[in-house]
Amino acid sequence: MIKISIFLSHSLVAEDLLLKDKNAVVIDVLRAGSTMTVALSNGAKEVIPAENVTKAAKINRGSSNSMLCGERNGKLVVGFDFGNSPLEFTQEKVKGKTLIFSTTNGTVSIVKSRLTKNCVIGSFLNISKIVEYILSVNQDFYLLCAGKLNNFCIEDFVFAGAVIKEILKVKSDNINIELNDPEYTALKLAELLVYKNDELSSDLILDMFKISEHGKFLISLGFEKDLEICSRINTYPFLPIFSKDIIKLKEQIELETSQRMGMKKINLSGKNSNDK
Ligand code: MLT
Repeated sequence: MIKISIFLSHSLVAEDLLLKDKNAVVIDVLRAGSTMTVALSNGAKEVIPAENVTKAAKINRGSSNSMLCGERNGKLVVGFDFGNSPLEFTQEKVKGKTLIFSTTNGTVSIVKSRLTKNCVIGSFLNISKIVEYILSVNQDFYLLCAGKLNNFCIEDFVFAGAVIKEILKVKSDNINIELNDPEYTALKLAELLVYKNDELSSDLILDMFKISEHGKFLISLGFEKDLEICSRINTYPFLPIFSKDIIKLKEQIELETSQRMGMKKINLSGKNSNDK
């Protein structure tokens, strides 16, 4: 039996120790989580989340290959290189770069998860990867919704419900899930708002974004296209892992490890041939 628990907002994680040695998915679908996933998929080396702008600037100091990214009130922070729109993070701009991110709710939630055992960043762009990961770990998980300004927001909650729905769709005898009121409500709300014939629908996700408080705010700032990008299911099927204060794609970590192993083999064979 695995237990899935939802935090409705990062403000309910009163202190980091609550998540110590736990498993968590951090959720900020509009937009930080989605934007980071796009940036890493487009070749950014890593993302370093910072809880505030000053901390981000400090981390950035002295680094030649890093960019400051994020927003306050949805807009570019003075002195930052990028805002928080997924459209900005193209391959040409981010390949090989370290991105230091500070956003109003998303990065605060990620930083609060620094003591977790396993932590990944989830959005509609990689929902299948998230579900696959939860099932492979097969232990209790927290779904930490970033929310909006210390409060609940519909889009993160519905995403959490969709994750639960997708887990329940997997028919397996050893997967048994315990759901309490918030999780059951998220599941039912997701079924009501973003599922059609039992399948997740990008069109319905976009409709849900458009009625959300934050979605309306982003549209008022001219970011309507961002809503569409963030609604596309599994368009960036990669797994951003937050570990040791850095977010990297699992796929990238595995590639680097196998390259290192390859190098080792070459070095070892070189040594052997010299020894002969
Ligand atoms: C946040 O972290 O609060 C959001 O990602 C805000 C935004 O849409 O830029």
